[in-house]
Amino acid sequence: MCGIVGYVGARQAPPIIIDGLKKLEYRGYDSAGIATQNGKGIEVLRAEGKLVNLERLLTSNPVSGSCGIGHTRWATHGRPSVANAHPHRADGIVVVHNGIIENYLDLRDRLIEKGHSFSSDTDTEVISHLVEDFYRESGDFLSAVRKTLTEVRGAYAVAVLCEQEPGKMVAARSGSPLVIGQGQEEFFVASDVPAILKHTREMIFLEDGELAWFAGNTMTLMDLAGNPVTRLPKTITWNPAMAEKGGYRHFMLKEIYEQPRAIADTLAGRIPDDQADVVLEGLGLSDAELQSFRKVFLVACGTSWHAALVGKFLIEKLARVPVEVDIASEFRYRDPIVDEGTLTILISQSGETADTLAALREAKGKQGKAVAICNVVDSSIARESDGVIYTHAGPEIGVASTKAFTTQLVAFILLALRLGRARKSLTDERLGSIIAALKTLPSKIQDTLAACEHMEEIARIYAQATDFLFLGRGNQYPIALEGALKLKEISYIHAEGYPAGEMKHGPIALIDDQLPVVVVATQNESFEKVFSNMEEVRARGGQVVVITDCADDGLKGKADVVLPIPSIADELMPVLTSIPLQLLAYHFAVLRGTDVDQPRNLAKSVTVE
Ligand code: F6R
Repeated sequence: MCGIVGYVGARQAPPIIIDGLKKLEYRGYDSAGIATQNGKGIEVLRAEGKLVNLERLLTSNPVSGSCGIGHTRWATHGRPSVANAHPHRADGIVVVHNGIIENYLDLRDRLIEKGHSFSSDTDTEVISHLVEDFYRESGDFLSAVRKTLTEVRGAYAVAVLCEQEPGKMVAARSGSPLVIGQGQEEFFVASDVPAILKHTREMIFLEDGELAWFAGNTMTLMDLAGNPVTRLPKTITWNPAMAEKGGYRHFMLKEIYEQPRAIADTLAGRIPDDQADVVLEGLGLSDAELQSFRKVFLVACGTSWHAALVGKFLIEKLARVPVEVDIASEFRYRDPIVDEGTLTILISQSGETADTLAALREAKGKQGKAVAICNVVDSSIARESDGVIYTHAGPEIGVASTKAFTTQLVAFILLALRLGRARKSLTDERLGSIIAALKTLPSKIQDTLAACEHMEEIARIYAQATDFLFLGRGNQYPIALEGALKLKEISYIHAEGYPAGEMKHGPIALIDDQLPVVVVATQNESFEKVFSNMEEVRARGGQVVVITDCADDGLKGKADVVLPIPSIADELMPVLTSIPLQLLAYHFAVLRGTDVDQPRNLAKSVTVE
C-alpha cells in the first residue's frame, strides 16, 4: 500500500508527480505529500486525506523544481494526519516510503539517544533520520542511503532527496514494488506502471535489494553493497488510455464493461483453432511435470481467493487432482505439507500482495513448484514464481476487483484444461466443447451486460436494506461470496455469502421480510436444490432476487426479481454470474453516495502483512 512517485529531469516535477499520484491513489488515500528541490533547498507540502487536499494546498502554496518526490498514504503506523504524512524530513534529508520497517522502534531509540527528535508516529521517519545521521558523518549521500538500507528490516520502496545535493535522487526497493521509467534525459520512479505510463513505456523493474542513483541526466543501478547491476528496460504494451476513465463515471464501471475485451485478451493465442489443446506459454511446466503432481494448493487473498475457490472445482473436475484452497495470510503459519509432488498456484491481480508473496516463498522454500496467475506483468509474485499465467486484464484502477476476477476465472479454465490434457483425464470431445464455449465467452459477456441494463432499478428497490444474503451452490458458492464482498467493500452494506444448502444450519434464522436474498441459480446438477433453498427463503418472508440462466417463466412467481442471463457451459457460468453481482454492488454504492473507486479504509495493493 501507499504509492510513491519521483522525477528527475529538465521539466517541472510537481505536475508530473501529482498526475502520477492520481494514478496511484488506489493504493491509499489517507494523506498525500510532495517534496521538490527548487534550487535553494527542498520544499515539502503535506495534507491529510485525499490527494485533492494536497492539490488545493498547492494552489495557494505552489512548489517548483525539476527534481521531486511524492506520496499517497495508506496508514499503518500512525493515524492519518499531516504529521504522519510523507515525505518525512530529517534536516536536509527527505524520504517517501511504501512498506513497513519492522525494526523501527530499535532504530528510533538508538537515534533518539544520539540526539534526533521525531515528529511523527510512523516507521518511515527512522529512514530519514538514519540517512541524515550517516550523511552528516560521511558527506556522501549515496552511501548514506545504502548504509541505511542495510540497517532497516522489513519491506520498502523508497525515494530519497538531499538538500545539499540538488538534482540527485536515490530510489530503492526490497519487498515493495518500484518501477523506473526511462525518458529522454529524464527519469521517473513509481510504485506502479500507470503512474508514469503517460511519459514513457520503457520501464526497468528493480529487484529486491537494488538501488537506482540518479544524478543529473544519468542513472546508475547497483546493489546495496555498491556493486553495479545491469537491467535492461522492458517495453510496456499497456497504453495510457487504459489507465483513464474513458467517459465512464467510475473506473469500476469502466472495468466492468471492459470484461468482453479483457477476457478476449486472456484467451488470445491460448486456444488454437484446431481445439486440440490450450497453450500456456509462461507456465514453464512440462507434461511430465504436470502429470507428476499429487496435490495442488491454491493460495490467494480476497477476491483472488474467491477465484481460487472456483479454480478448485475446475481443476478437480477436469484434471482429477486433489486441490486445497488456502487464504494466503493463513497458509504459511500452519506449516503446510508441501513437497516436490505439490504444485502451489498463487493468484494475485497486483502480484504484490504481501501475504500471497510470503505464501509463494513458503511453498518454494519447501521444494514445491509454484506458479502464479497474475495481472501485473513483472510483479514480484510473477517474477519469483516458476511460471506465470498472465491474465492480461489491463490496468485495474478501481479498488474493487472486477475484470481481474473474471479473467482469473478464465485463466483457471485454461490451466485446468492444460492439466487435464497432460494428465489424460480429459477426452478430446470434452476439451473441444469447452474450448468452443470459451470462444463464445466474450460475446456472452456482452449479452450479460445487456441483460443487466436495468440493474440500477433493481438496486433502487432494495436501497434501504441494511443486510444482504447471497446464496449459491457448487461453483456458484464462491460467486455468492464474491457478490457479498463487492457489496460490503463499496457500499458498506453488511452482506454474507453462503452455500445455499448450508443456510438451514443457521443463517435461515436471519430471514425476515427485511432481508433481501440474492440467489445464484444456474442450470446444473444442483439447480433444483438451489430452487428449493429459494422456496425456503420465500416461505419465511425473505425477498428473493434470483440470477439465473433458466428462461422458464414459472420462475417469475417464485422470486421477487428474476434476472435472466445467457447460458454457457457450466464451467464458464461463474464468469457470467459475476457480472450482475458486480453491477448490483456498483449501483448500490452510487445510490448510497459512497466513493466507489476508493472505498474507505481499503487499498488496491496490500503490501503489508
Ligand atoms: C476486493 C479486492 C481484494 C483483493 C485482495 C488481493 O475487491 O480487490 O480483496 O482481491 O486484496 O489482491 P491481489 O489480487 O492483488 O493479490
